Amino acid sequence: MTSARTTKQWQTLDTQRHLHPFTDFNSYAKNPGRIISRAEHIYIYDTDGTEFLDAMSGLWCCSLGYSQPEIAAAVNAQFQQLPYYNNFFQCSNEPAVELADRLVKITPEQFTHVFFTNSGSEANDTNIRLIRRYWDLKSQPKKRIILARTNAYHGSTIAAASLGGFASVHDQFETLPYVQHIADPNWYNSGGDMTGDEFGIAAARKLEKRIDELGEENVAAFIAEPIQGAGGVIVPPDTYWPEVSRILKERDILFVSDEVICGFARTGSMFGCQTYNTEPDLMTFAKAVTNGFQPLGGVMVSDKVASVITSSGGEFGHGFTYSGHPIACAAALATLDIIERDNIVERVANNVGPYLQKRWTELSNHPIVGHTRGIGMIGSIELVRNKATRERLEPDQNAGAVCREFCIENGLVMRAVGDSMIISPQLIMSHEEIDTMIEQATKALDQTAQHYAV
Ligand SMILES: Cc1ncc(COP(=O)(O)O)c(C=O)c1O
Repeated sequence: MTSARTTKQWQTLDTQRHLHPFTDFNSYAKNPGRIISRAEHIYIYDTDGTEFLDAMSGLWCCSLGYSQPEIAAAVNAQFQQLPYYNNFFQCSNEPAVELADRLVKITPEQFTHVFFTNSGSEANDTNIRLIRRYWDLKSQPKKRIILARTNAYHGSTIAAASLGGFASVHDQFETLPYVQHIADPNWYNSGGDMTGDEFGIAAARKLEKRIDELGEENVAAFIAEPIQGAGGVIVPPDTYWPEVSRILKERDILFVSDEVICGFARTGSMFGCQTYNTEPDLMTFAKAVTNGFQPLGGVMVSDKVASVITSSGGEFGHGFTYSGHPIACAAALATLDIIERDNIVERVANNVGPYLQKRWTELSNHPIVGHTRGIGMIGSIELVRNKATRERLEPDQNAGAVCREFCIENGLVMRAVGDSMIISPQLIMSHEEIDTMIEQATKALDQTAQHYAV
C-alpha cells in the first residue's frame, strides 16, 4: 500500500528516486510531473483531485476507458486459480491457450499461431528472431537486412529502437547494423508541391528503390505501422499502402505490420492491416489487447512463417519468463469479450469514428492549424504561424509543448510530437464527450495563438 503524502512530498520523492521513460531528468528534477492517483471512465485525477479528460487513452492503450470491472474481475479470478506459471519446458496454461486460439480467430485468416511477450518492444525483438529463423530454415542465409521507416516507433529495447526511426534515439546507443530506414509518408512535411496521391506513390517507391539497390536476395523484411503513431499520427495518403502492397507482392520479403497502436478497433477495423487491405506475414500487438490493464504483447505468425518454423526440429532459443502470463491472458480474454459484446469495431467504423473525424477536421478553420489528419479514433493537427507557407510558430518546433501545457490548464491530456498535437481517445466516448474534448482543444489553441501573437 502507498502511504499518505502531500502532492509536494510525492513530487519530491519522485524526482529523488524515480527515472522516468523518455524524460529529460535534469529538467524533470526542476519541474516535477503530476502524480496521477485515480481514474474513471475517460478521466484521470491527480493527487490534488484535478480532473483531466485523457484524450490519449493512457499511452494509446486504455481504449475502453478506465472503468471496466469485468477485466478486474477476470484478473482477480485468475489470481485465485493460477497466479503464475510459465510456458517453458513442456508446460502451458489455460488462459494462454484460450487467448492464442481467440487471437487466431479474430485476426486475418493467414495467422495461425501467436508468440506471447510482455510488451510491444519485446514483440518486435521476437519478430527479428522469427525473421532470421525463417530465412535460415529456408536456406537463404543472405537475407538479413530489415527495412523500416524514419519516424517509426517500434519500442525501446536495443532491437526495437534500432527498428524505430528517431535519430535522437539512435544517437544514444549502437543500433543493429542490419536495419535500414526509408523515408516515412508524411505528405505535410515532405510532400512539397506534390498532391497527396502523387506523394503516396513516390513514398512507396522509395521502398522499391531501396530493395532493388540492396538486392532482394539480401532483404529479409519490411516493418511498418499502418499509421505511424508516436511519429505524429502519420496517416499515409490513400495511394501509399496499395503501392507498397504491389511492391511487396512482387518480391519475396516478409512484411511485419506493427499494430501496437492500430490494433483492436482503433482505425475502425479490428486491425489496421484490414483498414488498408495489406497482407502481413507477422503482426505485432500489445497495449489495447488488455485495455492496458496488464502488460501483454505478442506476434501473430502467419501460416507461411509458422509452417516453416514448426516443420524443422531444433529449439527456438527465445522467450520470456512472463510469456503467456495467465493473469495477463485472462485480462486480454475479458477485454476481447467487451470489444465483441459492445460491437466496438462497428462503433468506431460507423458512429464515434466518423463523428470524431468530422469535429476534428473542423479544427482546420483555426488560425494556427495548418493541417488535420485522422482515421477512426486517432488524429493529429499541425501547428503553424502561416497556413500558406507552413511556417511554424517558432523555428525549433517547441509550440507543441506550449500548446500541451494550455491543454492541461483546460483539463485535457493531448500529446505533442514536435508541432503536431495528437489524440487517441477512448473508443467508448459519446458524441457529447467528443464535443467537450474539441471545446477544450479549441481553448488551448486560442491560448497558443495568443501566446505567439497570431
Ligand atoms: C507501434 C508501436 N510499436 C511498439 C511499441 C512498443 O511497445 P511497448 O512500449 O509496449 O514496448 C509502441 C509503443 O508505443 C508502438 O507505438
